[in-house]
Amino acid sequence: MMRLMGAAIAALCLALPAAAQTGTPDAALLARGRHLVEVTGACGNCHTPMGPQGPDMTRALAGGNVFDEPPFRAVASNITPDPETGIGRWTDAQIARAIREGIRPDGRIIGPPMPLGLYRGLSDRDVAAMVAYLRTVPPVRNAVEASVYRIPLPPAYGPPVASVPDPADNPVARGAYLANAVAHCMECHTPMVDGRNDFSRTGAGGMEFRGPWGVSVARNLTPHANGIGGWTDAEIIRAITTGVSQTGRPLAPPMAFWAYRNMTPEELSDVVSYLRSLPPQP
Ligand code: HEC
Ligand code: HEC
Repeated sequence: MMRLMGAAIAALCLALPAAAQTGTPDAALLARGRHLVEVTGACGNCHTPMGPQGPDMTRALAGGNVFDEPPFRAVASNITPDPETGIGRWTDAQIARAIREGIRPDGRIIGPPMPLGLYRGLSDRDVAAMVAYLRTVPPVRNAVEASVYRIPLPPAYGPPVASVPDPADNPVARGAYLANAVAHCMECHTPMVDGRNDFSRTGAGGMEFRGPWGVSVARNLTPHANGIGGWTDAEIIRAITTGVSQTGRPLAPPMAFWAYRNMTPEELSDVVSYLRSLPPQP
């Protein structure tokens, strides 16, 4: 009898993970949203207060990081559901519009360095998942200073986003979606000309990032000999998830290795397929 019960319990335990995966639509949507915000999208790389030890997860997404550059002094917003200092009073549609179109409920435009050009490509399903998850994070009271822009901001980043489907179900299309709309790899790794990415040279690298680490330069991620042409898949994945270059050199910030280390094996192999599909750039 005991043996039978033990077997029944073991069977139940084995069955549980599968049941949790299918779950209710809401649980699946929330899990997807958590993964997009915390891991692949790494919103916390900008929105979670950064200390010398990395992000302060006790105040996740509470804002306050300052991006001090010649054209602006931008301060990351508090995107927790605190009603006074965060986005607690915004509707789902208002949060989705802020992420995908860069427009706040009061009509004010959101400025750089938030990668708003690429977030326009987030699918309807994924932006809904992000919004659902953002509503569930612990509210943190943290009033952040206003950003100051010394450059004119555009009235909008494009026409209103009507509807964006999920990417086609093949590795290169999924990887392109992840590396652009979700993880904005290509924002950092594509050269900037006059303040805009030159997407005729997608992935060619060259952008400089200054911080407490000194200056880091985004590398060439195209399949050229100057890029990842001679790298194995495992070496590319190690760089993304642990911040170690092919030669073993530790990579400097601001890439979000701490978040990308939890990307799924499928996501990582899709991103590699996409990088290998790019036109090689010297
Ligand atoms: C590279 C840094 C960066 C990344 C990555 C980033 N943001 Fe932002 N975000 C900012 C900055 C800076 C602001 C404030 C800009 C301003 O003051 O106009 C902002 C503003 C916002 C706002 C407006 C909030 C308010 O109260 O006005 C929302 C919502 C938002 N971000 C959500 C997100 C989400 C969700 C993600 C991940 C998918 C994300 N951001 C990724 C830098 C970033
Ligand atoms: C916020 C900017 C930023 C984002 C976003 C970013 N990177 Fe990077 N990445 C860098 C910088 C800067 C370096 C170079 C660091 C150094 O040399 O110390 C780098 C280095 C790398 C390297 C190592 C290349 C080499 O030659 O050593 C790879 C591979 C890489 N990034 C892939 C990616 C992928 C894939 C993504 C998206 C999942 C991504 N990066 C997102 C800024 C970024």
